[in-house]
Amino acid sequence: MQKVYFDSAATTEVRPEVIAKMVSVLKEDFGNPSSIHGYGRSAKNHIEQTRKNIAKYLGVKASEIIFTSGGTEADNIVLNSAVRDLKVKHVITSKIEHHAVLHTVQEIESRTGITVSYVNINTDGTIDYEHLESLLDSSDEKSFVSLMHVNNEVGTILDIDRVGSLCKEHNALFHSDMVQSVGHFDVDLSKIHVDFTAVSAHKFHGPKGIGFAYIRKNSGLKPLIFGGEQERGYRAGTESVHNIAGMDEALRLSYEHLEEEKKYIKELKQHFIDTLKNKIEGVKFNASCNNSDQSTYTLINVCLPVPEEKAGILLFHLDINGIACSKGSACQSGSGKGSHVLTEILSDEDLQKPSVRFSFSKYNTKEEIDYTVDVIKKFIEE
Ligand SMILES: Cc1ncc(COP(=O)(O)O)c(C=O)c1O
Repeated sequence: MQKVYFDSAATTEVRPEVIAKMVSVLKEDFGNPSSIHGYGRSAKNHIEQTRKNIAKYLGVKASEIIFTSGGTEADNIVLNSAVRDLKVKHVITSKIEHHAVLHTVQEIESRTGITVSYVNINTDGTIDYEHLESLLDSSDEKSFVSLMHVNNEVGTILDIDRVGSLCKEHNALFHSDMVQSVGHFDVDLSKIHVDFTAVSAHKFHGPKGIGFAYIRKNSGLKPLIFGGEQERGYRAGTESVHNIAGMDEALRLSYEHLEEEKKYIKELKQHFIDTLKNKIEGVKFNASCNNSDQSTYTLINVCLPVPEEKAGILLFHLDINGIACSKGSACQSGSGKGSHVLTEILSDEDLQKPSVRFSFSKYNTKEEIDYTVDVIKKFIEE
């Protein structure tokens, strides 16, 4: 049976070069990076070199990068520390954020009583920038804005320069979850007014369980995890050296091949859009994900005209035909709940129909797209 992986927004296939680097570090550089002997120093070297490389790609200082277990931990650290240490009393976010932000904000709200405002979302998945401005204008307390750069379900790209400038004008702190953008877009934080970001390696062909937070220098954040002096005391615990080295290699390769891979994947996305339009009457592209100016090239999210009685088994049907994709985002699969993002964007009528996210990588081909669209077409018509 043909096997097709269209779920790279959930996680990506690890590049062979990344695996080779990780195996070599596991074998050769297994010392504890806090040890002062040669084994320890070799391990430490991987960590500090990775920190410098990341800093160079993102246009920040190496000391502003803190390694974490991934995007979720980075989001949690930033949000919790900001409210605890920076006297933030008002968080402005949106209802289409990843749960790593949304659930964290809700937990902080119920525990501390801070005010949380949600910026309005337009039907094309963009935020209402004027509403954001009015929320900032009317806030007489220290505000903290948390808005993701690229939405993981529908792909909408935030106008991060505009939000950064608005935050600067209003003296508000700005956190942007960049889990779906770093490694896929050039991100130069020296040019954007952003104070904090969260990044995860498994979204750019690196290993799972590793990522980092960018925390602007002199931000005033204090540690949340206590123990040893790792990460300058900011995040205690022996570092995952092989994962950090794997992330280094993955990020290096992503940026080295960024333009050619972006071009290739953009063509795949366009081919998917064209083939769906040609073969499936009534297909809809959620949140204008077919608009290449405002949506990431790495995914599409489509509402399919599947007869009501078969809607519930579409994903199962794709799966038994070897096609891996997602309903909303993978973080929800199994929970049985609909997507909180689509709930904010789609009409009640479209919410009744199945929506599927197909997300891509350099490992996909046009043949896989043709095969997938044929499977969907037969399923609808049979
Ligand atoms: C936008 C976004 N933020 C955060 C996360 C969580 O990252 P991690 O899996 O590294 O914890 C994800 C993963 O799906 C994501 O897509």
